[in-house]
Amino acid sequence: MEALKGRDFLGLTDFSPREMQELLQLAAQLKAGEVKVSMECPKVLGLLFYKASTRTRVSFSVAMYQLGGQVIDLDPKITQVGRGEPVADTARVLDRYLDILAIRTYEQEQLETFAEYAQIPVINALTDWEHPCQMLADLLTIQECFGSLSGLTVTYLGDGNNVAHSLMLGCALMGMNVRVATPPDYQPVPGIVEQTEKIAGGKTEVILTDDPIAAAQGSQVIYTDVWASMGQEDSAESRIPIFQPYQVNQQLLSNADPEAIVLHCLPAHRGEEITDEVIEGKRSRVWDQAENRLHAQKALLVSLLGIQ
Ligand code: CP
Ligand code: NVA
Repeated sequence: MEALKGRDFLGLTDFSPREMQELLQLAAQLKAGEVKVSMECPKVLGLLFYKASTRTRVSFSVAMYQLGGQVIDLDPKITQVGRGEPVADTARVLDRYLDILAIRTYEQEQLETFAEYAQIPVINALTDWEHPCQMLADLLTIQECFGSLSGLTVTYLGDGNNVAHSLMLGCALMGMNVRVATPPDYQPVPGIVEQTEKIAGGKTEVILTDDPIAAAQGSQVIYTDVWASMGQEDSAESRIPIFQPYQVNQQLLSNADPEAIVLHCLPAHRGEEITDEVIEGKRSRVWDQAENRLHAQKALLVSLLGIQ
């Protein structure tokens, strides 16, 4: 995908709906083995993660290795960035060594500063604001299950967090209806809601509610995430009673479309946002979803690096 070569991926709306479709198509082709891509000269991906990660770290690394490239783990604990070297300086230096950089951090502004000072493609591997790489895999999974995306209804239950933000934007971009059920004080931020409504343009539903049952009604995709994200550990206990009505359990699921699938970005807190029965149940697609991180991010790397 020549159009994405050299670009950053800081949020879902960095790509147009058409670019997103093409990226998902490439991911599906790579997964099916219909397209083979390999680097002539090994490129190097840097992983700069200020937060823990299993899926994102491993799937990016494996994708890069399978493409014939290399990965460097820039653990903030053992690099100068963790000792306070300015982001603008670190970015300009890493730019001289690496071909592409994936960052997992807290503030979106820090990621944007990296992108401003580094000329190489910078990827959002999760911030407090968005988790766009997760959404590539989620959209691929939904497309695999239903054949297409447009017109489907996706319901998110829980905290109006980074994953909810990317899901809302992703649904609106791809012509899907999105319903987000959260406790009243935990809604997605207004900026994301406005952006989502603007993209949807009144053509698809964008519903925010505190009613989990109404939100799940007839929905084809039920999605949840942890009630306390990384960085919010101190409030994890106090959130449990507030979020309990938003748990994805068998009863909640009975309101959805009979063919509905259940997604969770993982890691999951079983017994909190999702029951054991549902995550292990026949509607769950969470393992395919996790696998698709690899295929979707491989397509992303191929496109941003401009590999033929
Ligand atoms: N879903 C996800 O991003 O998982 P990790 O935190 O393990 O990378
Ligand atoms: N919302 C979660 C997602 C983890 C993949 C977090 O930010 O911790």
